[in-house]
Amino acid sequence: MSYQNLLLDIKDKIATVTINRPDKLNALNAATISELDAVFDQLKDDENVYVVILTGSGEKAFVAGADISELNKLDTISAKEFADRGQAVFNKIQNFDKPVIAAVNGFALGGGCELALACHIRLASDNAKFGQPEVNLGIIPGYGGTQRLTRLVNSGRAAEYILTGDMIDAKEAFRIGLANHVYPQAELLEKAMEMGKKIAGKGQQAIRLSLKAINAANEVSLRDGLKLEASLFALCCGTEDFKEGTSAFLEKRKPDFKNR
Ligand code: COA
Repeated sequence: MSYQNLLLDIKDKIATVTINRPDKLNALNAATISELDAVFDQLKDDENVYVVILTGSGEKAFVAGADISELNKLDTISAKEFADRGQAVFNKIQNFDKPVIAAVNGFALGGGCELALACHIRLASDNAKFGQPEVNLGIIPGYGGTQRLTRLVNSGRAAEYILTGDMIDAKEAFRIGLANHVYPQAELLEKAMEMGKKIAGKGQQAIRLSLKAINAANEVSLRDGLKLEASLFALCCGTEDFKEGTSAFLEKRKPDFKNR
């Protein structure tokens, strides 16, 4: 499949999806949202892909937000559809059963911050700037920012960033847990690939079930989350990977996972 606003590169079991509208700082217009939807459908079915890296084209921006020229035309009805559509695509990313690593290579503002928040892991370049500046436009975040930022950092910090619209630099993003690591920009993709390869080298049944359990933690009570964890743990113990992983440890050799 070919895309107008995305670049797709698949190598060593890792798909790198690059949002490619650098002249608009990779702002998410409706066409790009549809392509993101489509590319994740494509990657879901690709048995050659174990991990996805999501990044932005150029050195300036990951994604500078929803496309404000499209936002400007919304009315109450179309705005509800707009938010529902973006949220559905970002939910697809969060619930993707392969790990999605955001390589945040510059501005991650508004929808860009929300896109990074929907990913499972965020790595940032030293020039990255996160933020939810929607109040400056007279709106609130609509692609999940009020919910995911609040859950990832805490409600006091999320309130500060959403109410002031202030940007969060890479150092602060790391300090508050919004970015897992910060790297010089030139090394960001290499580091994301390194992490992707490490994950791709594990048994993928365990990776997928880990993601399912981690995602549930945001949705269900502790009691139900623990029940789910026990069930998924039991499922793992029925896999060939489990036998291989534990046997390899006992035999002091490297496991050879078959992802079954
Ligand atoms: N939607 C549409 N176009 C955008 C955009 C967005 N969210 N963010 C940047 N662009 C466009 C600019 O309009 C400009 O296009 P032009 O060259 O055709 O005029 C181009 O990208 C470069 O942006 P520019 O503002 O000139 O770069 P800058 O370095 O001076 O500023 C930002 C960078 C990120 C601070 C600034 O672009 C900005 O504030 N963007 C909007 C961020 C935002 O509010 N996002 C949330 C939307 S809900």
